[in-house]
Amino acid sequence: MEGVKILGVGKYCPENVVTNFDLEKIVETSDEWIVKRTGIKERRISDGEGTVEIAYKAALNALKNSNCGKDDIDLIIVATTSPDKIMPSTACSVQGLLDCKNAAAFDISAACSGFVYSLIIADSLIKSAGKKRALIIGAEVLSKIVDWSDRSTCVLFGDGAGAMVIEASDENSIISSCFASDGKLGEKTLVAAEINLNTPFAKSENIEKRYIEMKGGEVFKFAVSILPEIVNDVLDKGNENLENIKYIVPHQANSRIIDEAARRLKVNREKFYVNVDKYGNTSAASIPIALSELSEKGLINKGDKIILAAFGGGLTWASTLIKF
Ligand code: UT7
Repeated sequence: MEGVKILGVGKYCPENVVTNFDLEKIVETSDEWIVKRTGIKERRISDGEGTVEIAYKAALNALKNSNCGKDDIDLIIVATTSPDKIMPSTACSVQGLLDCKNAAAFDISAACSGFVYSLIIADSLIKSAGKKRALIIGAEVLSKIVDWSDRSTCVLFGDGAGAMVIEASDENSIISSCFASDGKLGEKTLVAAEINLNTPFAKSENIEKRYIEMKGGEVFKFAVSILPEIVNDVLDKGNENLENIKYIVPHQANSRIIDEAARRLKVNREKFYVNVDKYGNTSAASIPIALSELSEKGLINKGDKIILAAFGGGLTWASTLIKF
């Protein structure tokens, strides 16, 4: 078996809905500003559930939708920038809760591109390392690392998790992909929760930064230029054209970024699936949540070609052309 097939997707988002009107009571902002600048109307915010818990619930949903049991999973990758702990990894904790014996499990940190990075890694490990069935999860409780007094960031983010199950097959669902990074730009534009370096041996005192800090305008410019580029990249590599693509599922950061990407690609905006209005920016979880929603609504069928396109902290970017 030389290919990899997608078996199913699933999601879990905390039940607690926080609207823009709720945020008006916390910071100086307005529903009008948030909707106009971002398209976001509401987001889910955890009222106590951690990243492991929501990752586990999304995993259960994806396993159910894939009609497969936990025992067949031999690889778990969790993409997250908001883990509950540095160790054990979120993936190991999920492995423990699922009790799927002998699965390799690890987290990857590629911010909003993390889920697509994970899919590319899992695809490669199945093809090169003898793994048979992988569970890939994007899970974030960003509300833990958001500065709730900073209106320029706290209105943007939400909590949630999405997951996918893939397996070794004669079919091939992962047609083409690309992933890359720019750490210099990342350091200057988007950082979160620096680790405290104040050891007894440090030469100078370091200020601990615990929250997300973003130069929104600069990230915006980067996003609108990289999004069309990575869509075209996987189309070229996959020898495909946009007419044959049912949906582009972009990272859900801001509906204006998606409008501009559609304009630059000269493609109907309807080809982009957008749900940022309901969930805000859930970083690594945004793409699997959107994919799951598409599947739940019956908007995608087996065999449909879809492009997943992500960009975010790092800075990182990644895309993949899949056959659902
Ligand atoms: O997932 C990671 C990738 N992240 C992204 O892709 C985010 C990319 N960036 C963006 O989506 C946008 O840059 C933002 C939505 C973050 C900001 O939109 P913007 O149009 O770039 O606004 P701005 O930062 O230039 O701010 C415009 C004004 C400022 O006031 P002044 O200086 O013009 O008086 C801000 O202080 O809006 C003010 N402002 C707010 N006002 C009300 C900033 N945040 C808010 C707020 N409510 N929440």
